[in-house]
Amino acid sequence: MAGLIPENLLEDILSRVDIVELISSYIPLKKAGHNFRSNCPFHHEKTPSFMVSPQRQIYHCFGCGESGNAFKFLMRHERMEFPEAVKTLAEKTGVILPELDKPGALQAASLSSQIYKINALALTFYENNLQAESAGIWRDYLTQRGIKPETIKEQRLGLATSSWEALTIFLRTQGFSLPLLEKAGLVLAKDAGGYFDRFRNRLIFPIFDVRNRVIGFGARVRDNTLPKYLNSPETPVYTKGKNLFGLNLAKEAIGEMDEVIIVEGYLDFMLPFQEGLRNIVASQGTALTLEQIRLLKRYTHNITMIYDGDCAGEMATLRSLDLLIEEGMLVKIVPLPKGVDPDLFVRQNGMAALKDKVAQAVNLFDYKLNVLKTRYSLTEVHGKSKIAAQMLLTINKFENAITRGEYVKKLAEAIKVPERDILEELHKLKPLGNEANVETGPLAKKSTGINPAEKLLIKFMLEEKDLIEKIMQQLVPSDFQDLRTVKIVSVMQELVAQGKNIAPSILMNYFSEDDASQLVCESMFMPMLSDQEREKAVKDCIQRIKVQRLRSQRESLHVQIKTAQLANDEPRLSKLTQEFHNLIKKGD
Ligand code: UTP
Ligand code: MN
Repeated sequence: MAGLIPENLLEDILSRVDIVELISSYIPLKKAGHNFRSNCPFHHEKTPSFMVSPQRQIYHCFGCGESGNAFKFLMRHERMEFPEAVKTLAEKTGVILPELDKPGALQAASLSSQIYKINALALTFYENNLQAESAGIWRDYLTQRGIKPETIKEQRLGLATSSWEALTIFLRTQGFSLPLLEKAGLVLAKDAGGYFDRFRNRLIFPIFDVRNRVIGFGARVRDNTLPKYLNSPETPVYTKGKNLFGLNLAKEAIGEMDEVIIVEGYLDFMLPFQEGLRNIVASQGTALTLEQIRLLKRYTHNITMIYDGDCAGEMATLRSLDLLIEEGMLVKIVPLPKGVDPDLFVRQNGMAALKDKVAQAVNLFDYKLNVLKTRYSLTEVHGKSKIAAQMLLTINKFENAITRGEYVKKLAEAIKVPERDILEELHKLKPLGNEANVETGPLAKKSTGINPAEKLLIKFMLEEKDLIEKIMQQLVPSDFQDLRTVKIVSVMQELVAQGKNIAPSILMNYFSEDDASQLVCESMFMPMLSDQEREKAVKDCIQRIKVQRLRSQRESLHVQIKTAQLANDEPRLSKLTQEFHNLIKKGD
C-alpha cells in the first residue's frame, strides 16, 4: 500500500492525526467506554456497530467489517486514492512530503490523478470556447433556455466546437499522450489510425465530484440530432451511477435544510438551482442507484423526487423507490404533468410554482397507491389483490413494525379489504430478517471468520511487543491456518527486528489486502484482559493452535496413506504409517 511514500512520513502523519476528530468531522460519534461509536457510514444499520478507538487510532465496523486507520477512512469515505489521502492528512497536520512536491511525482503515482488534471484542462479549454465571439449562437441558445451568464460561469459551462481535433491538439501540447487522453474518455481512436475529439459541436456540462474535481462531461446538441446528450464513458475517475450531478454545489444546503430534491436532467438541476432552489441534485437520467443513495445519506435522509409525467408511474421507477425505503430514507414524490420536466415547469410557471409543488409532495406510499389505482380496477377482486401485492412489497421494506402496521391499516382502508387479510398476506412474504441479510452490494463484508485463537494471539502480540518473541519461540508463522495471520505475524516479526513501530494503525500500511488489516482492527476491538487473564489466554491459544496443527497434519497423512494404499505402494505406505504413529504419540 505504502510504496511511493516513505514509511516514516506515514508514521509521522498518523501520529499527528486524531482519528476521532477526523471521523467526527464526517459523522457524529458518541463516547462508549474507551471507544467511540456510531451508525456505520459504510452500510445501512439501525443499531450502531461502527467503533473508533482513540487509543489505537483505528476504526472497525462489527456489522460490515469495514476497518482501518485514518488514511483508509478517507480512501473509503471520500473515495480518495492512497496518495491523495496521505496528501490531505499531510496538509492537515503540517507534514511536508518532499517527494510529492516535485512536479510530476504524484501524477506518476496514479492514472486517476492524471485524468483529473486532463479533465481540469479540458474544462478551461471548453469554457474559453463558449466565451469566444464566434460562440454567440450557443450563448443565445442557453439564454433561450433561461440560463443566465452568471450561471454559465458558476456551473462552468463550455463548448466543444465542430473541430475534429481542437481539444486533442490542445491537450497534446500540454504534454499528455494520446493513449492517456483516450483513457480520460476525451479522445477516440480512428479505425484507420489517428485520433479525434469525442465531443464535437455540443454544449459542455462538466460533471464534478463532491470534492469539486472534474470527473467527466455531459455534452448536449443544440438541435434535434440524436443522441441529445453524449456523456463521458466509464474512466478510472468516472462511473455512471456513482455520483450525483450538482452535489458539489448543493451539499451544504442539503445538510442545512436536511432535505434533498432529486431531478433527472442537467437542465432540470440548473434552472431551479439558478432560481434559488439550492438543495437540488440530478441523477443524470438513471434510476437512483444504491451508491447514489449512500452518497446522499451522508447529508440527509429526506428525499423529495421530482418526476416528469412520462417516467412517473413506471414500474421500474416504483421499484427503485423501494430501494430508498430499504436504505432507511424518507421519500416524497412530486409528480409533474405528463411531458413536463422541472426545467420546462419553471420556465412556464416560475420558480414559486415549483416550490409550491415541492411543498405539496406526497409520501411514497400514497404516490404508489395512486399510480396503482390508475392501473388496476378497485371494483374487481383481481385488481385489489394486484394492488395489495405491489403495496405489500413496499410495506415489507420498512423495518419498523409499527410503521408497517400503520401502512397495513392505511392499505386496508384504501382498497376496502379487512386488515387481517392484508396482514396474512404480509406474513407470507419473506421476512426482512436481521441487518445482515439486508446488507447487499460490494460494501457488505462480514467478520473475518478467523479462528479465535489466532485472532487473540495477534491482539496480544500487538498489545505487548515482548509477547511476540515468547509466542514465536513456540510457534512458526506457518503454524497458523489463516494466511492473513501468517502474513501479519511475519510482517510484525520483521518490523520488530528492524526496531520499527508496530502500532496497529501503522502496521496496516504494510498490507495491500484489506483482509489482513481488517483482521488487525477486528482483533484490537476484542475485550481487554488483565495481565493474569492474558497470560493464561496466551497459553490456551498456543495449545489450541498446536492441537490444530497436529490435527491437520494427521488429516493430510491420512489422505496420503489412502492414496498409497490404492496405489499398492508398500514402501511408501509403511513410511507413512510410521509417521502417523509418531504423530499420534506426540498428540498424547
Ligand atoms: P431528458 O431526455 O429528459 O433530457 O434526459 P433533458 O434533461 O430534459 O434535456 P433538455 O431539457 O432537453 O436539455 C434526462 C437526462 O438523461 C440523460 C441526461 O443526463 C439528461 O439530462 N440523457 C438523456 C443522456 O445521458 N443521454 C441522452 O441522449 C438523453
Ligand atoms: Mn428538459
